[in-house]
Amino acid sequence: MGTKLSVNINKIATLRNSRGGNNPDVIKAAIDCQKFGADGITVHPRPDERHITYNDVREISKIITTEFNIEGNPTEEKFVALVLEVMPAQVTLVPDAIGQLTSNHGWNTIKEKDYLKKTIELFKNAGIRVSIFIDPVEEMAAAAADTGTDRIELYTEYYAKTYIKNREKAIADYIKTARIAEAKGLGINAGHDLDLENLRYFHQSIPYLLEVSIGHALICDALYFGLENAVQLYKRELNSYYK
Ligand code: PXP
Repeated sequence: MGTKLSVNINKIATLRNSRGGNNPDVIKAAIDCQKFGADGITVHPRPDERHITYNDVREISKIITTEFNIEGNPTEEKFVALVLEVMPAQVTLVPDAIGQLTSNHGWNTIKEKDYLKKTIELFKNAGIRVSIFIDPVEEMAAAAADTGTDRIELYTEYYAKTYIKNREKAIADYIKTARIAEAKGLGINAGHDLDLENLRYFHQSIPYLLEVSIGHALICDALYFGLENAVQLYKRELNSYYK
């Protein structure tokens, strides 16, 4: 089974919210991404609802035919209640602060182990798969296994930022961290700043990657190529083994 592409549609909501009204239509975008070949839809509702709103999440859940992944910080009670109401296939827990521009660090799975354990149990008991966002640090992957999580999501910003300068160096910690996670029986997802330039090498280097979630770059590419072509181009990168 190949690596799944989950399209993060937050940016579509950001564009819509900039004018009020319902253009572009987030629900239509979710339906279309799935039609165009996406293996999943990701949303990241934030407490100020400046991108995807809580109501969007409810509405999107009704049209999901692939995998629904909801990201967010479980310290927000509203977020936990929303996830338990909507019952997505996966919840990705991210320690982002209120008002933060975008996610910028992973969990400290050693210090926050007890908190994570309790929170993960809540979602797993409800039948929702759990993934936790971590930096590419071996100790964090090793300790993630003690939290009861099903998967980790590797935070790929460092990889993306350093890829052009030296891709072997950029990927090194991700390979090490992924190996530890795999050996501990955890599934591996990845996301943040992945794009058409850097995705293929990441995927080739970590072939047992289960899923990538991609938003910003894919929606930007859709401005030039159209949404259907953009989704297909990213899928192609995940199916290509030589460059
Ligand atoms: N994973 C997490 C936890 C995120 O917060 C985001 C951004 O919302 C992504 C993946 C996707 O990042 P990008 O929009 O850069 O593709």
